[in-house]
Amino acid sequence: MTKTFFSLLAAVFLASVTPTHALWPQPRNLQAGSGALQLSNGFDISFAGSLNSVPSDLRDAVSRTKQFLKNDKLGRLVVDRGQSDKASAQKAKSLSKLTLSLEKGATLKSITDEAQKPIESRDEAYTLTVPADGSAATITANSTLGLFRGLTTFTQLWYEVDGMTYALDVPISIQDSPAYPYRGFMLDTARNFFPVSDIKRTLDAMSLAKINQFHWHVVDSQSFPLQVPWLP
Ligand SMILES: *[C@@H]1O[C@H](CO)[C@@H](O)[C@H](O)[C@H]1NC(C)=O
Repeated sequence: MTKTFFSLLAAVFLASVTPTHALWPQPRNLQAGSGALQLSNGFDISFAGSLNSVPSDLRDAVSRTKQFLKNDKLGRLVVDRGQSDKASAQKAKSLSKLTLSLEKGATLKSITDEAQKPIESRDEAYTLTVPADGSAATITANSTLGLFRGLTTFTQLWYEVDGMTYALDVPISIQDSPAYPYRGFMLDTARNFFPVSDIKRTLDAMSLAKINQFHWHVVDSQSFPLQVPWLP
């Protein structure tokens, strides 16, 4: 009885581990299909009309996203590293466009401005759709910070096998917003030495996991490894 129960539980668990569930943090709401999709070599990200003067940090986020999709080359974490996905991915339609848009009535501010709003009024929600038929994928949000979170999720949908970038479980539809408004990470550089490049890498990793508060433990009573030029 117990054994049956546990094998049933394991079966349910394994059935729920589909490629899109590799997203982290898990989106609040995810509907996925069972198709495949290729990423076109000419893939581009554009802004819908309302974003006529796009803030420069959003433009930077878009070009980083495109770089990441070109260079990441992450193979799916399965025994054959995705070789068995090849046949269906080769037959699949290819996606050449992702369109970002703000909802009607939303005001256009930079990601930096949105990220510095008080935590209660910070809006990180977004909706992401990836159709299976090759028509444009979309991210919509009420803030550029939401669009940024959506871009992060979008990059995590893609895998690479033998030079082909592809996604599984399309069509995908995600409605996401944070379960917790404060998602922090504390780094103690007072008692431990970290090169600047490591700190920057850590910030990038935080961003990939949508962590939004950096608690920098810079100084302590045991050491004060901070130069303040005007207070020598
Ligand atoms: C944008 O705001 C409206 C009104 O509050 C809300 O109904 C909608 O779900 C929001 N869209 C997203 C993507 O969060």
